Amino acid sequence: MLTKTLLFDENVPQKKIIDAIQTANADPSIHGILVQLPLPAHLDEVKIIDAIDPKKDVDGLTTVNQGKLFSGINDGIIPATPKGIMHILKKLFINLEGKTAVVIGRSKLVGKPIAQLLLSKNATVTMCHSKTENLKDICLGADVLVVAIGKAKFITADMIKPDAVVIDVGINRNFGRIDGDVDFENAVSVAGYITPVPGGVGQLTIACLLENVIECYKLQSRE
Ligand SMILES: NC(=O)c1ccc[n+]([C@@H]2O[C@H](COP(=O)([O-])OP(=O)(O)OC[C@H]3O[C@@H](n4cnc5c(N)ncnc54)[C@H](OP(=O)(O)O)[C@@H]3O)[C@@H](O)[C@H]2O)c1
Repeated sequence: MLTKTLLFDENVPQKKIIDAIQTANADPSIHGILVQLPLPAHLDEVKIIDAIDPKKDVDGLTTVNQGKLFSGINDGIIPATPKGIMHILKKLFINLEGKTAVVIGRSKLVGKPIAQLLLSKNATVTMCHSKTENLKDICLGADVLVVAIGKAKFITADMIKPDAVVIDVGINRNFGRIDGDVDFENAVSVAGYITPVPGGVGQLTIACLLENVIECYKLQSRE
């Protein structure tokens, strides 16, 4: 797989980025486009993402692909991290039907799509965020706990229901060390399953991102 990286100055005008995306949209040799987020404050993230042809949107972040996911239309591109998490749950033979799932974090890239995917498997889903009250009590009710907040070791062992499935999405870099959002060392003795950081969700994200490139290619081949 060949890749091309376009780097822009921090003060780049929005039009320059959108023009570059439109050029890539029109180029039949390019099958996937990804905009690295977050963007500088002067840029309109939604407008820039929505400039990507949905059939080349490997991150699944365009309004079209997010809309398809939330409408249950299954020919869209699903963001790689939640897709990878569903692979993990499938591989572990976790039956989600009727289970209580708690998702912490409500980003478009992870929290919202994973909540939707868990819901589509008939889990009962609670979404939490920075304004959630009684987070510990909510977490203690979770059969499946997905944590995507970006705060090292924020979820401690006393917030985890015994034998719960804990999916740690967080990547927190600190002087060369990488920690997840869950205090893995202590949580591991409470959880039934727990994904490590590094070496857990991140690996599946990479694999699913490559899978999305192939899916985009197939969508474009059908045109
Ligand atoms: N492993 C992977 O492949 C992968 C992929 C993507 C992201 N990540 C990592 O996952 C983490 C989350 O990234 P993201 O892009 O999904 O999220 P994000 O856009 O950074 O948003 C963080 C979310 O966490 C919530 N939050 C922050 N503090 C909280 C608190 N004290 N209690 C409850 N919720 C809180 C925020 O709530 P509000 O909405 O109220 O602000 C927000 O919804 C980061 O560490 C990121 O590096 C890893």
